[in-house]
Amino acid sequence: MSQLFPGAVVEPVELAETKGMVCIRTAGESDVESLSVYFTGLSTISRNKRFSGARTDLSVVAAECVAKSDRLDHFTLLAELRQEGQGRIIGEARYAYDEAVRHGEFAISVADAFHRMGLGLQMMTAMETRAIDLGHELIAAETARTNAEMRGLAKKAGFRDTGLGDWQSVHLAKRLSR
Ligand SMILES: CC(C)(COP(=O)(O)OP(=O)(O)OC[C@H]1O[C@@H](n2cnc3c(N)ncnc32)[C@H](O)[C@@H]1OP(=O)(O)O)[C@@H](O)C(=O)NCCC(=O)NCCS
Repeated sequence: MSQLFPGAVVEPVELAETKGMVCIRTAGESDVESLSVYFTGLSTISRNKRFSGARTDLSVVAAECVAKSDRLDHFTLLAELRQEGQGRIIGEARYAYDEAVRHGEFAISVADAFHRMGLGLQMMTAMETRAIDLGHELIAAETARTNAEMRGLAKKAGFRDTGLGDWQSVHLAKRLSR
């Protein structure tokens, strides 16, 4: 897609506030260490929201996210900020298709310093585009009722509350179409 950013899944964008180009691309095995550093650098609150609880085995989680798999329907997208020739992960989205229930599920996070710059929405759009290309028709996620940012992001991305959640969590879904 871009000569400057091989592997980019959407055109790289310049976020006004970052003074650098942000590339959304598929994670590979060589990203384990930088993804682990990224997870470690999230605030405790954001990390707990991302993993629905405390996780200390972040290098294991990072390895799971980028593990080479024959399954194209399990992937991780990374948002990488390029400044002065250096790359730094500032966001990630993990997607996995569940054959049994015939929908994709995802989890997402953006580095705290980059919240509310439109990156979460861009990653969601890139993830949905990939899911559509794979022929998937429905995408779903569960988040805590108290997670205002995820609920706001999902609403803006066109998800609706299915009503299948409980007193603690909200179940969100979106029908995909070309
Ligand atoms: C949820 C998260 C990924 C959003 O990323 P982001 O890059 O800040 O989101 P965006 O800037 O693209 O915001 C898109 C829209 O989401 C909504 N939104 C984002 N943050 C919000 C907040 N704190 N409160 C209410 N709505 C919010 C808004 O509608 C926003 O559009 P607007 O800025 O034009 O009003 C980010 O807050 C995050 O990493 N949170 C911690 C991890 C987490 O909770 N993950 C979800 C569980 S898997």
